[in-house]
Amino acid sequence: MRQTARIASVEEVFKLLATGGGAAYFGEPVTVLEHSLQAAWFVQCLGGDDALIAAALLHDLGHLLHSEGEDAADRGLDTRHEELAAAALGEHLPASVLDPIRLHVAAKRFLCFAEPDYLAGLSPASVESLALQGGPMTAAEAEAFLKLPHARAALALRRADDAAKVRGLQVPPLDAYRALVASLWR
Ligand SMILES: [Fe+2]
Repeated sequence: MRQTARIASVEEVFKLLATGGGAAYFGEPVTVLEHSLQAAWFVQCLGGDDALIAAALLHDLGHLLHSEGEDAADRGLDTRHEELAAAALGEHLPASVLDPIRLHVAAKRFLCFAEPDYLAGLSPASVESLALQGGPMTAAEAEAFLKLPHARAALALRRADDAAKVRGLQVPPLDAYRALVASLWR
């Protein structure tokens, strides 16, 4: 079920997003690609640096790397997509990109603990996956989370992630981010 995919080039990243990203996004009103582009755009609008913009663009790449299908959560399955993406990109991008990607699910669990209104604002699909991902953090987990490198960046990414589900929103296209990702690639 889980593939140990490795991504070898910037071209491969963009091909994956362009071809696989047209799939429906887990009960949300946008595709994976639309969602990724909106997340990157929101981070950019809020003054996020290049690493965080790249993280936002690539944070759900893991959904395009497993074969469990769009309804995995409905079947009670956590695909650990955040780990899949970070592992696939791990040799080529810095921790400032990989850590927020890896932590964006933990960030949701943190915000559910830290902000009483946060859970109420989540989409139904996000609430469904939350249960599979471990539910809200405990106080001890939240304290430990904040000490992790790039935890604050992961929280910023998470807020963009949650907002990036707007049907029909016009944002810059995928190609607008090619040079940015290439500048971080090694
Ligand atoms: Fe997302």
